[in-house]
This record gives sequence, structure tokens and C-alpha cells, in this order.
Amino acid sequence: MSNDSIEAPAPHREGNEPFASILNRRLSRRGLLKTAAIGAPLVALSTSPLLGARLFGGASLANVAGASGDSGGGGGPVGIESIPHDLDDTVNIASGYAAEVVIRWGDPVLAGAPAFDLNNQTAAAARRQFGFNCDYVGFMPLDPGSVRFGLLGVNHEYTAGGDMFPGYDSDNPTAEQVAVEIANHGMSVVRVSRRGNGTWYYHPESYYNRRIHGETPMVPTGPAAGSAYLQTAADPTGMDIRGMFNNCGGGKTPWGTILTCEENFHQYFANNDAVEETAQARNARYGAPGGESFRKWERFEQRFDLAQEPNEINRHGYVVEIDPYDPTSTPRKHTALGRFKHEAANTTLSDDNRVVVYSGDDQRFDYMYKFVSRNAFNPYNRAENLNLLEAGTLYVAKFDDSGAGEWIPLVPEGPLAGWSLADICVFTREAADLVGATPMDRPEDIEVNPVNRRVYAVMTNNSRRTEEQVDGPNPRGPNTYGHILELTENGGDAAATTFTWDIFILCGDPANEEHGTYFAGFEQGELDSIATPDNIAFDRAGNLWVTTDGQPRALEAADAAYVIPTAGPERGRLRRFMTGVPGGEVTGPEFTPDDTALFLAIQHPGERGGLDEPTSTWPDGDFPRPSVIVTRKLDGGVIGT
Ligand code: FEO
Ligand code: CA
Ligand code: CA
Repeated sequence: MSNDSIEAPAPHREGNEPFASILNRRLSRRGLLKTAAIGAPLVALSTSPLLGARLFGGASLANVAGASGDSGGGGGPVGIESIPHDLDDTVNIASGYAAEVVIRWGDPVLAGAPAFDLNNQTAAAARRQFGFNCDYVGFMPLDPGSVRFGLLGVNHEYTAGGDMFPGYDSDNPTAEQVAVEIANHGMSVVRVSRRGNGTWYYHPESYYNRRIHGETPMVPTGPAAGSAYLQTAADPTGMDIRGMFNNCGGGKTPWGTILTCEENFHQYFANNDAVEETAQARNARYGAPGGESFRKWERFEQRFDLAQEPNEINRHGYVVEIDPYDPTSTPRKHTALGRFKHEAANTTLSDDNRVVVYSGDDQRFDYMYKFVSRNAFNPYNRAENLNLLEAGTLYVAKFDDSGAGEWIPLVPEGPLAGWSLADICVFTREAADLVGATPMDRPEDIEVNPVNRRVYAVMTNNSRRTEEQVDGPNPRGPNTYGHILELTENGGDAAATTFTWDIFILCGDPANEEHGTYFAGFEQGELDSIATPDNIAFDRAGNLWVTTDGQPRALEAADAAYVIPTAGPERGRLRRFMTGVPGGEVTGPEFTPDDTALFLAIQHPGERGGLDEPTSTWPDGDFPRPSVIVTRKLDGGVIGT
């Protein structure tokens, strides 16, 4: 979901330091580009085999270490010929490649699921079928060393009644429609296999298949678990949460679990104007509406009515860990990673093998975070690793215009003296306001390049940043097209508390000088346009793959997927790999461990027309249906070569 359409929360606290100080030190765009063009030297590759590796869930240690063998610079040759922008109702892809649907909204996932019937949807059926609006896709190998069998963990970010129910009346949703929408949230885990001819299919009744939805029991962990903030009338223990909502991006852990991220959780709750003052201000910092919610679920489930259940909102907005290999496992909400509009959560390991999780808070002028676990990853003890995200330190990023930066710990001292850890983990945005974090242009995916170890952080856009508010890391106001930052942790250690940074890409149309684009110094004459970057992935060669959310508005073109080398003579040379369909954003870029398949999700095709006047009828020609696709090279080779 584009957060362009989501109203901003309450303004940052008065006296939020970073703005004023950064404004005073801001550089001109010209100055910035000069700095960026120089670039920082590559950090030395870590001596730890794990650290040079691309981490993927379910892999054995040997498997992970093996992936580091082909490191060598941070960007391989890309043999893809860029394809043009378009607005047609088909998924187009580079020459020599195929794009095929794997699973669609409503397809049966669990045994006994009925075939999808658009005109007769029930919550009971939806809890057994593939949910709506697929977003993050995680490929989890079932057979380490093999790339033919795996599980797809797919987020179902949000629902929109007008895109789901023929004749939907947004003023008067029915109880069953609301129940169907709650059931269409969450995640699907589905088993997938590759055929001998390279195509992929899913298994409708696999033992592993799972539907996690808005009523699925979950447990919180970490400092806020069981605290008064999480206690409700229905759950006085504060330990028994129902469901997850607005799960947008995600990530995987080295021990083979999926991290799925609650993003715009505020929009499910109503009547913030009816709660007491302190709670009201806290909810407002997350954008909770006074009066009714646009979904109107509070009419049917009192937990969504803040006036009746003021703490329910504190139970959402977390990173949720799911073990896809155990369909009976209980999803866990890790409060230690903070509560905000988590776009995604990508992991790496520090030099001493602690787990580091990067996560952006996708809102205009919100922050970038990282979590460093207290204990170290042990490749031989998965059961212990499952507890790693329960304790550690949460940091927020403060940028300096000169190209340096600092990770500020959110701990109960200094500006946060008097706060408890539970306070920090539940009201994380306010804590970050107080320590002077740098307000960013909608931080989305943040991910470590497996080859050069740099951290790539995507800022989608910020229509509200003014000329006066531009700073080093957010150098355009308004920022219509978005940009990508490239961070180097001090010494190459992901647990470092300082970093240096550069601009990697300033998006836009290079042919339009007013866009002020920059492509890591690459000659712009030959390059295509890109806008509103959102989710990213790296191939094993270290090339950056980017999907977009918002190109129809920014460039009058469909959202798309791109590849950008990060090193060598091709560094910054953008190529458009595929294009989506009207109304639909492209999400979830996810490779198989051998890079022969790249999974993508087409979310909300036909959006803004609704079912009554759809702007797309993809994929089947009748009505728009959010679906996961797989892209592959026709000759079976490595994508991008
Ligand atoms: Fe759900 Fe930040 O996109
Ligand atoms: Ca997103
Ligand atoms: Ca990603």
C-alpha cells in the first residue's frame, strides 16, 4: 500500500533536535552530488564465512558459507536488455525470460478449501484460501542444496472492500464482509516445486501449508510482553494476541524463520478521540484516527474500538517471527524490535555472530532502525536461535550531512531516563523523537549486500519535504521520486554504532533535468527512469533488484522491477526487468538460492477502479486478482546473466 494515501500522524514533538541542526548544516544539491560521486572505498570482506554469505532460511551452515564463494566486488555483469515503460494490462518481461502466475487470491491453500467464488465469499473459506494483496515473498528451501522444492511465505498486507466484493457499500459493510477481510489478512505458507521444464507450481494440500490471519493466536516476546500496555479485557495477561495486520515487507533469519512486519496498523482502530489524553497522544503519533475507521470493523469487533479496548492497538505494530517449517508453531511478536510501521526486517550477523535486524518505519519523516541481539547465533542450535530476537538493543539512525552517521541506542538513560524498556518497545517513535533521530523520506526496505557488505536503504518518496527541509541524506524537497542510500558500517561490522553513508541512486527520469537524478555516477544518457523504489533483493553477484510502488503517479508508468549493479564499470547502470499492470504495485522480490527463479508479487491490480470499474482484469481477464508470479530465464540459467 502506498503510504502516500495514508494521512501523516501527529507532528514530531516540539524541540525534535535533528531538524534544526541538520538544516543549518545542509549541503546544496550540487555539493551533495560531488560528495556522492566520490564514493567510499569498499570495506574489506569479512573473514567470517557467515558474514560474506547471503543468508537464506532453512540453509545449513555449509550451505550458507558456500554462497560466499562467488563474492568478488559487489555487482556482476547483467545481460538483461532494459524493457520500455508501459501501461498495458499484461506483465511484460525482458527478452529471454518468462513470467508465470504461481498462486492467486482465493486459491485453495488448506485441505478442504473450496474453489474461489467471487460472489459467495465466506470467512470460513477465506481462512483456507490464499489471502488478499500479496506483498512480501520469502522462499524457504525444503531441501538444503536443492532449489526445486521450497515453501513460499507470502504476506497478505491489507484488504479493500471495493476491490473484493461486487457492489460493496463502503458506508455499510456487512458483518460477513468484515469477517472475510479479517480472514484475508496475514500470511500464507505454501509448498512450491519446480518442474523439469523450469516452471513452478504450488501444492494445494501440503502438510506445510498454513494460513495465518487476523484471528490467529500469537504471543508477544521481549520487554513489553505481558506488560500493562498489552493487557485488554479479553486478555488480562497481555500474552495472548489475536492476529497480525498490514504485514507489508519481511525478511528471513539465518535459522530459517520468516520475519513479517506489521506496517500501517493504526488504520484498523477507531475513536482515538474518545480515549484519555496520554494514550490519545501516543496513538496519534502513529496516526490513529478519531471517529470511525474507514474499514468500520469496530462496528462488529469491539477490540478495534479504542473507546472500548484502548490497549488493543498496543498489541500491533511489531515484527512477527514465523517458523514456516512447523505449521503448528505459534507466531511471535518481538517487542524488542520496537513498535512502528515496520516496512521490512532484514537480518545479517555481526563480527561476533550476533543477529542484526534492519527495519525502516515507512512514514514521511520517520526513522531507520536496527536491532542487535544480546546473544550470538549458534548454527548448531536452532532451538536457542529461536529466542535471539527476544533480547538486545534497538538503535535509531542519526545522519550527519558530512557523510557520517550514528546508531543511537534506545535505552532508559539520557533523554530516555525514566522510561522503561517496555515504554521504549511500545512507544518507539516517541523514544526516537527524543534522542534526535533523523527524519527520513519514508524508509522502506533496508538490506545488506551479500558481496560488499554495505547496507542499502530505500526511501520511497516524501511529497511533504520542503526545500527548506532538505538535508544530506534526504536531498530533495519535495522528494517525488525517492532515493536509495548506501551505508557502510564502521569496520564492516553490522553491530557498529557508527557508519558512513552515500547517496546511491536519486530516482526520477534522467532525461528530465528537473528531476535531479543521480545513478551512482553512471553516465545518465542511456538510462531509463525509475520512481518510488520500495522493496529490494540482492542476487548472489551483489546486484540490487528493486521493485516500485507509485510509478503510475510519479512517471505515468506501471510499477516495475529493475536491476542495478552495485560495483564495477556498470555500477549504477539501471535496467528495467519487468513491468506490472494498471493499479498494481510490484513487491516481494525473492530469489531461489541459485538465482534461477525470482518471485514477485503483483499487489492490488486494478486498484482505484474497484471491482465495478476495474482498471485491470489481470491475470485471467475477468477481474483483478492479486497474485504471486515467478520469473525465470527461458534457458534455465541464472537470472541477470
Ligand atoms: Fe506497505 Fe511501505 O509499503
Ligand atoms: Ca512496501
Ligand atoms: Ca527485500
